[in-house]
Amino acid sequence: MTDTPAARPADAGAPARDTWTIQGYWEHYAAGWGVPDWPDDTLWRGWTQYPGHGPGPEHLGDPADILELGCGTALELVHYARRGIPVTGIDLAPAHLDAARTRCAGLPAEFRRADATAFLAGTERRWGAVVSRFGAVWFHDPRRLLPLVRARLSPGGLLAFSHAPAVPGCYGPQGMYPGGLRGRPLAVRRWSYTPRKWTGLLRAAGFERVDAAVLPAPDPDDLGTLLVRAWLSVAP
Ligand SMILES: C[S@@+](CC[C@H](N)C(=O)[O-])C[C@H]1O[C@@H](n2cnc3c(N)ncnc32)[C@H](O)[C@@H]1O
Repeated sequence: MTDTPAARPADAGAPARDTWTIQGYWEHYAAGWGVPDWPDDTLWRGWTQYPGHGPGPEHLGDPADILELGCGTALELVHYARRGIPVTGIDLAPAHLDAARTRCAGLPAEFRRADATAFLAGTERRWGAVVSRFGAVWFHDPRRLLPLVRARLSPGGLLAFSHAPAVPGCYGPQGMYPGGLRGRPLAVRRWSYTPRKWTGLLRAAGFERVDAAVLPAPDPDDLGTLLVRAWLSVAP
């Protein structure tokens, strides 16, 4: 049999070709295993990939309001909204946003479908904390994103994010072809750095104080979590 493109089977799990875009990739992700099955919203999932492990809601201090970039289904935001803290979540995936709205119904929470950089560049609002849990901060070049975040934080404001630590020896933009290795290429990039490099990037972007470290997993032989917090100075 001739191995023509038309004769090849579709790559298992790949998005349909007409949604073979970054937006489509995240919609595909949200429609599948990207929607966490969470038993009880009173339980704290938290900032790491191990539910309940690591710092709790106090990690953000006492912000007046919170913006999450790539909020997914708002599993963390709901805890703050329940305490009366106004929260804003933005995400590319409508299925995630629908789940977030259901989870936060009746609470001071709003959700918007938007790209993180476009949203930050297009608003005049400021927040007390901007957060991203394995979210949009990971998927943007920090040299582009950090100045936009800084401009939307109140004086003394906090940027807090978490994601997987960099693969040792692999720093900067990391690329993947999540749609498979045939057909129209879909490139997804995420940016990975050591805590020390993040500290330098954040200071260069104007953050006054930075706390960046890899938190070990509950089993120290397992993959840990990069946890970063950076504060602006209180004086504007
Ligand atoms: C790995 S998921 C994490 C979701 C959520 N923060 C959580 O921890 O459950 C990454 C999320 O970032 C969103 N995302 C990716 N790129 C984005 C962008 N450029 N702007 C806004 N959201 C984005 C995706 O749609 C997805 O919901």
